Amino acid sequence: MRYAVLLFVIFTITACRMIIPVPELPSDTMDEFYEQQISELISKMTIEEKVGQMTQLNIDVVCVGEVYNLQEPHRIDSAKLHKAIVDNHVGSILNCGGHAYPLAQWHEMIGNIQRVAAQKTRLKIPVLYGIDAIHGANYVMGSTLFPQPLAQAATFNTELVRKGAAVTAYETRAAGIPWNFSPVLDVARHPAWSRVFETYGEDTYLCTEMGGAVIDGYQGIAGPDKYHVAACMKHFLGYSGARTGKDRTPAYIPNNQLREIYLPPFQEAVRRGALTVMINSGEINGVPVHANYDILTTLLRDELKFEGIAVTDWEDVMKLHLNHKTASSLKEATYQAVQAGIDMCMVPNDYNFTNHLIELVKEGRISEERLDKSVRRILWVKQKLRLNSSPMIPSAKDYNLFGSPDFQKEALNTAEESITLLENRNSALPLGKQDKIFVTGPAAHSMILLNGAWTRTWQGADEKWDDTTKYTIYEALKAKNPNVQYALGCDVLDKPVSDNAMQLASESDVIIVCLGEYPSTEKVGDIDDLSFSRAQLDYVKALASLRKKLILVLVENRPRLVNEIADLASAVVMAYQPGDFGGEALANILYGDVNPSGRLPITYPRYNQSMLTYDHKYTETFDQKFANTAFNPQWEFGHGLSYSNVFYSDLKVASPEVVQNGLVNVTVTLQNPSDRSVKESVLLFIRDHYASVTPSVKKLKQFQKIELQPRETKTVTFILKASDLKLCDRNGQWIYENGDFDIIIGKLKTTLTLK
Ligand code: BGC
Repeated sequence: MRYAVLLFVIFTITACRMIIPVPELPSDTMDEFYEQQISELISKMTIEEKVGQMTQLNIDVVCVGEVYNLQEPHRIDSAKLHKAIVDNHVGSILNCGGHAYPLAQWHEMIGNIQRVAAQKTRLKIPVLYGIDAIHGANYVMGSTLFPQPLAQAATFNTELVRKGAAVTAYETRAAGIPWNFSPVLDVARHPAWSRVFETYGEDTYLCTEMGGAVIDGYQGIAGPDKYHVAACMKHFLGYSGARTGKDRTPAYIPNNQLREIYLPPFQEAVRRGALTVMINSGEINGVPVHANYDILTTLLRDELKFEGIAVTDWEDVMKLHLNHKTASSLKEATYQAVQAGIDMCMVPNDYNFTNHLIELVKEGRISEERLDKSVRRILWVKQKLRLNSSPMIPSAKDYNLFGSPDFQKEALNTAEESITLLENRNSALPLGKQDKIFVTGPAAHSMILLNGAWTRTWQGADEKWDDTTKYTIYEALKAKNPNVQYALGCDVLDKPVSDNAMQLASESDVIIVCLGEYPSTEKVGDIDDLSFSRAQLDYVKALASLRKKLILVLVENRPRLVNEIADLASAVVMAYQPGDFGGEALANILYGDVNPSGRLPITYPRYNQSMLTYDHKYTETFDQKFANTAFNPQWEFGHGLSYSNVFYSDLKVASPEVVQNGLVNVTVTLQNPSDRSVKESVLLFIRDHYASVTPSVKKLKQFQKIELQPRETKTVTFILKASDLKLCDRNGQWIYENGDFDIIIGKLKTTLTLK
């Protein structure tokens, strides 16, 4: 709250029609002065106006047509808008009415909303508009679509990811939207979860670093200007820990794991100044997070010192009554959520929250001071975003980089650095220029499979919104080699397709089979079996029986099991959901124009019943003696090949011992024996030999992405902090325990003693 700036005065002056002289103040007292201005505004607000600020509605509520069934083309219904903004003082609106809009339509809709707020309301407080721009400004037609976050994490390149987030912010703001419900900072501990693709993978440190880079990209290092947006770290806390792997089902997370695994990305995001947070729709240990004071107030506010807006997730106050059953009525649900610590309710389709909260305050069950705390945070974020001083409709000339070749190049680079070469037997890849190629499978000629959910629509499954100027995998390969043949061969689900696929396959030198899953997210994406469909597995087996060079390309939300077919392929390539430029990126990699450099940000499991993470415990280690398959993944976290076979040597710690709070340099030498340049992600893990809480077999502590020129040798230095060796004890405290640790890079290992 200390960063309020001069513009707020202008806002307050126009908003309240009062003349507040701006005094000459030394700069260190300015923050307090503007904090006072927010206080003055709050002191003028009625209970209804305060509750309105805490209410967030779905755009459908103010549009022509029914909620979830708007009339095309979508447009604002002025009577409904008046009811929301003027009668109910609503402070925030979200979403699109079911599909993306071109810039001009956004400008018209948001312009309408802001005009009513500025011209028809007493206090003229701007509306805070929010949207999900998960992999680019996906609800703005013509925007640049990046790979999904899981793929972005595979780049292990935080600078690239930061730049991508900055493009997303720019293109979101170009539409007049200043708030992005991203990044997802949930650590993907269950590979079957429908939102794995929205995360930065299974490792806490990787999620922390990527999340931090994204916050910087969205908000700008100096705080949001007209090219940046407020980030929304989500979903606080433990959302991805559901025991079943199904969306919004219960998680049982002991305090020390909550703090060791799930909390750090949020802690770092707060440190970097994330302006807003969205709450986990699920429950932890029997308590819905939306009603959990310990998490929403004691941890988030008192301990993390988070000062921004805590917004609920979609309908989650209502769900305390209807789904979680901790509240016997909708009004009680409102009471529970507000008292637990939420600031804004994503209601989003009615005025129940608004009416109930007004009643609760008037009955004296919730104090007005409690409202003031939330309203102060909401006004502060509006202030930080300079909503009051921004033009209501962004000027197109300020955003002429929207959808530009420069931005598209960023998306292509990100896709190229994310795609992960998992197997390359006998150097099956890159392809020869003369090879007769047959490309097939459900993902071979589909843009929706490349893009995944949150692409022009929520589930991203409707081809109607495809950008036909972008290349599918088949089209991208054909652009390199006009003789490439294609047939679908097999659909995503158990629906064999009869075409001439087997004939074309038998006439080719190389078969590239692109397996895929339909885009989906949240409950819609729940699955009962992590395997690819029987139809796809059998299709690969049929193709393999032709004994051609078989390249398996995986286009997927999450790591679908391939243990039946992985060994049949000469090469396996993980494409994730690489976005609009994924086809081109993949073709560049398959033909060797780009050297692959992605690494798995998640363990690729082999079996449905063995979904362990790489940082498992010793008791989960593969045990030959008992043929115990505890940890025996298809491919491990961090795995990824290039065409260069970079050689690691000389792993050294500068000193064999480090003291608590000390630092030690770790060096390793990398040699590129090939005549191609290569990007290499260098991952540093530690392994604690003995600890009072059973240690993991290894934990990622640092990484660097470097580039090696042909035949180049380079020494890479990490500055390891002794604090990287701390453990989270059984009470959830990070403590030192002296002893020996392995430092592991590649297949090399050395020992360091903490004294
Ligand atoms: C999702 C959130 C999203 C929100 C608004 C919810 O269903 O869980 O991640 O931000 O909808 O679209």
